[in-house]
Amino acid sequence: MVYETVPRTVRIILLGEPGVGKTSLILSLVTEEFTEHVPPKAEEITIPADVTPEQVPTNIVDVCLAEQSIEQVAEEIEKAHVICIVFSVDKQETLDKIATYWLPFVRDNCPDDCRKPVILVGNKIDLIDYSVIDNIWDIAEEYPEVDRCIECSAKTLTNVSEMFYNAQKAVLHPIGPIYSIEEQE
Ligand code: GTP
Repeated sequence: MVYETVPRTVRIILLGEPGVGKTSLILSLVTEEFTEHVPPKAEEITIPADVTPEQVPTNIVDVCLAEQSIEQVAEEIEKAHVICIVFSVDKQETLDKIATYWLPFVRDNCPDDCRKPVILVGNKIDLIDYSVIDNIWDIAEEYPEVDRCIECSAKTLTNVSEMFYNAQKAVLHPIGPIYSIEEQE
């Protein structure tokens, strides 16, 4: 697989089923606290280079299917360097949709010879006391563009900054698949 050449900014897009916590993850990262009521879609934010671990300006783009057409989402995928597909660890159907819908959709909107790294993000780990990561290996095997998988919680802030850092790293230092549960607090 050939990745794009390393860019000077990193553009991260968050995809996934409604209600999995995409907007909450972005706002938890920015405000360092969880807000129960978030807007349907976060404004695009830019994190300045000097506060990112990799010293690279980073744009974060939220997607909300209730507010955007599928064509607009496709355009955003084309502009992104890395794609975070979020699911909710307590809702199996949101994980199922990653392989049946989101990964094929991302492929359809990336040239074959230049796939973009994908991070699978299991959010809401505060709601369960086990890991669902074993259910992800088959997906990662079928889709080699899946670069990393991480479990996190926008509510407890667990692994939220790590998730965005992993997305940055996937662009700046592409490597084979890893699983970063050991980074959980
Ligand atoms: P759409 O805008 O419909 O695409 O949803 P979204 O993926 O942006 O989800 P959103 O951030 O709006 O969160 C949906 C619901 O899940 C809200 O009630 C959040 O408070 C809740 N939520 C988000 N993250 C977490 C989490 O880590 N833990 C728990 N318990 N609830 C969360």
